[in-house]
Amino acid sequence: TIAIIDFGSQYGQLIARRVREQKVYSVIYQPDVPAAKLAQLGVKGVILSGGPKSVYAENAPSCDPKIFELGVPVLGICYGMQIGCKILGGDIQPARSREYGRTKLKVVNDQDLFKGVPESTTVWMSHGDQVNELNDDFESLAETPTCPYGAVRHKDGKFFGVQFHPEVTHTPCGNDILQNFIYDICGCAGNWQMSDFVEETIEKVRNQVGDSKVICGLSGGVDSAVTAALLHKAIGDQLVCIFVDNGLLRKNEREGVVQMFSGHFHMDLHVVDWSDQFLDQLAGVTDPQKKRRIIGAEFIAAFKSEADKIENAEFLAQGTLYPDVIESGNKDGNLAANIKLHHNVGGLPEKLGFKLVEPLRDLFKDEVRLVGEYLGLPEDMVWRHPFPGPGLAVRVIGEITRERLAVLREADAIAIEEIKAAGLYRSISQALAVLLPVGTVGVMGDERSYESVIAIRAVETTDFMTADFSHIPFEVLGTISSRIINEVRGVNRVCYDISSKPPATIEWE
Ligand code: XMP
Repeated sequence: TIAIIDFGSQYGQLIARRVREQKVYSVIYQPDVPAAKLAQLGVKGVILSGGPKSVYAENAPSCDPKIFELGVPVLGICYGMQIGCKILGGDIQPARSREYGRTKLKVVNDQDLFKGVPESTTVWMSHGDQVNELNDDFESLAETPTCPYGAVRHKDGKFFGVQFHPEVTHTPCGNDILQNFIYDICGCAGNWQMSDFVEETIEKVRNQVGDSKVICGLSGGVDSAVTAALLHKAIGDQLVCIFVDNGLLRKNEREGVVQMFSGHFHMDLHVVDWSDQFLDQLAGVTDPQKKRRIIGAEFIAAFKSEADKIENAEFLAQGTLYPDVIESGNKDGNLAANIKLHHNVGGLPEKLGFKLVEPLRDLFKDEVRLVGEYLGLPEDMVWRHPFPGPGLAVRVIGEITRERLAVLREADAIAIEEIKAAGLYRSISQALAVLLPVGTVGVMGDERSYESVIAIRAVETTDFMTADFSHIPFEVLGTISSRIINEVRGVNRVCYDISSKPPATIEWE
């Protein structure tokens, strides 16, 4: 295991992913993690991440200095390099000229850390401070035009620092540097793989739950599907799945879930048809946040009504992922965390009284998909686009009626079918149809008609915080449009949404 000490959220996550891509397990820690804990875990190396602050700023985070006495190599990146140099006796000053973006790096020592890296290479910089002077314990490994210590090594080999960011794709040799550190300097074997994760997790789950039953809510999405498949492999019939039909599902969604989990996997699946309750409560409601609140409350009622009937159920399974864990551990309350919170309706409150089983809490989303493939979930399910908890309710803009839901459901199915047929589904992060609350004029035969508008939205993004619209070819959009207008009664116009996020969001409500 490589421990990553995170001085500023997004850096730590990116480094953790890069390390795992090298088949070495990595875990992110907050700056205050005691060195003794890392020793206890037997980590083979430590990476100190970059961060937004200056090391001399008030409340600038630092790490336990004893980390440098653990006897395992430490790599400091940007802010992490400055922290390491400061602790080990260097002088950090604001740089004469700040460096942001691409810059040329000249490698002056191509031993260990820079083995195999060209003498002159491009790196990505983002810093205001830099290391100015170092004592004789350090040697410079690389420099940039403005930064004499672009990379350093402590003479006894316990600390390395790079002022640039090897974890970003803009640093082409970044992977070589990380590999040199992980394999050669720390001596990691690079044999961590999904099957190990699955076997270990199965053991852990069995130990945790004993003979009790575990309830797992299925949503039709990837995370809950993989959670259920993993738990089923671990505890078989002790797993009970609940799927709530809220009347706001996509076409064939309920049937698909039943076929997969009950038919194929033979799981104990309870389908709760609560659609009348949801739609009755939503009647006449147009405010999006009010819709979300109603759906959140009804979901809990529906889930609870079924869960109460299951005897000996002590545990509730949740598809919590690693980024959620890191975000909720971040006390600065960053934007990502807040936005998630606002979306987190449709979840279950703690007061249901179950103990939690969270088998995916150490994984990133792409790793969850790999586990899903390993467990034999079909491609269709593993690579599904995300779908919001409130379902089609936030895509029927304005009032929700059964008729309007049926129109949107058909249009959505056609759009997704054509996107798949064109081979575009996997390159698009999320695609959806929206029903607008306006009638527009059209001609049908000789008559004027006033019918509805469907908007199609498709975006590409890695984190769903920022997104660009997908450049779907006009021919594909044309087919989607003519099929929707011909096949879905009540629609006479189709538009394509070409806004980016921000300032627009992915959903329309
Ligand atoms: P926005 O519209 O904010 O969406 O750009 C970002 C991502 O979050 C999903 N989303 C939701 N997910 N409950 C959810 O579980 C919600 O209320 C909700 N609203 C938006 C959206 O589909 C996209 O993937």
